[in-house]
Amino acid sequence: MGIRIDSLRCSLIAIPLLILASSFHSASAGPCEVSYFNGRQIFNFSLTAPIAGFPHGVLSEDGYYKVAENESVLWFQLCDGMIFNHNPPRCVGCQDCGGPSHCGSGCSALVANNIGGYDVCSTIGGVSSTSADIMDEQNPQKGVIVKISSLDTKENCSLSVSVICNSSGLTGPLGLQKSGTCDYAAVLQHPSGCATVVSVHGKGLGWFATLIIIVLCVFGAYMLAGAVYRHFFLGIHGFDVMPNLDFWITLPQRTQGFFASLVRRFRGPTESYRDSYSPVNF
Ligand SMILES: *[C@@H]1O[C@H](CO)[C@@H](O)[C@H](O)[C@H]1NC(C)=O
Ligand SMILES: *[C@@H]1O[C@H](CO)[C@@H](O)[C@H](O)[C@H]1NC(C)=O
Ligand SMILES: *[C@@H]1O[C@H](CO)[C@@H](O)[C@H](O)[C@H]1NC(C)=O
Ligand SMILES: *[C@@H]1O[C@H](CO)[C@@H](O)[C@H](O)[C@H]1NC(C)=O
Repeated sequence: MGIRIDSLRCSLIAIPLLILASSFHSASAGPCEVSYFNGRQIFNFSLTAPIAGFPHGVLSEDGYYKVAENESVLWFQLCDGMIFNHNPPRCVGCQDCGGPSHCGSGCSALVANNIGGYDVCSTIGGVSSTSADIMDEQNPQKGVIVKISSLDTKENCSLSVSVICNSSGLTGPLGLQKSGTCDYAAVLQHPSGCATVVSVHGKGLGWFATLIIIVLCVFGAYMLAGAVYRHFFLGIHGFDVMPNLDFWITLPQRTQGFFASLVRRFRGPTESYRDSYSPVNF
């Protein structure tokens, strides 16, 4: 019975541990902090952290990024609200993003479409509706995707900016794409899209611990199967149901004998001889 409980407990502990050790998961501690663990390494992205040449990380020094394609013009800032010191967007319907006098300064992304000769604004969202995740789980170092979206305006709008890791500098934003009624995508190459990679040792489960658990489980399964076989097919009951009982009972003595012989070999027989007959000093 004791054997069965042990092996049950062994698999109850080992299976979740193994799943945990090989689990893939990402977590984020702020909208622009992305941390991804693939079981071996942690990939950390901090988009707003200062780096060489970019004291505000991925944030545009101008206060906004601008990208235009076809009849659409899109302004955005990543991880913050936009700031316009000059040339603010001029479009009708800016009330969700600063109003006509401060258009653009009340949100993180705004798009203007020319409809019948008028530029009509659609607010895409603010910092509170910004989220970021890694771009590609197979290649976590590729970069992150920052998504800004809103559901509370007249129409549902979103902007996905792929921040691709390029340690040599900033390129873009490029390639404005539109899908659906108000869903946009653009691409930015930026050093802030490059991950800090931390190799994990000790965290999770090392291969040695995994090996030990596997060995213990195989041993438990062997004992259980042996006991079941001896109980049902050989009709053995009681404590004798344990396979190789003689061996296990004598195992402590054998181990002791083995270590004793090791010690003898290292210390030499003469010393132990002398030890056992050492005269008592008066
Ligand atoms: C990685 O990110 C996590 C969570 O954001 C943080 O606790 C950890 O200190 C970071 N590690 C490094 C090396 O930056
Ligand atoms: C916006 O999205 C929500 C949830 O997906 C949906 O229920 C709603 O109908 C959408 N609104 C518009 C104007 O498309
Ligand atoms: C990375 O950025 C540099 C400078 O901005 C640019 O010349 C280069 O083409 C970029 N690399 C890739 C792979 O696009
Ligand atoms: C511009 O037009 C091209 C081709 O029609 C289309 O693929 C693209 O999504 C358009 N971009 C925008 C922002 O409307």
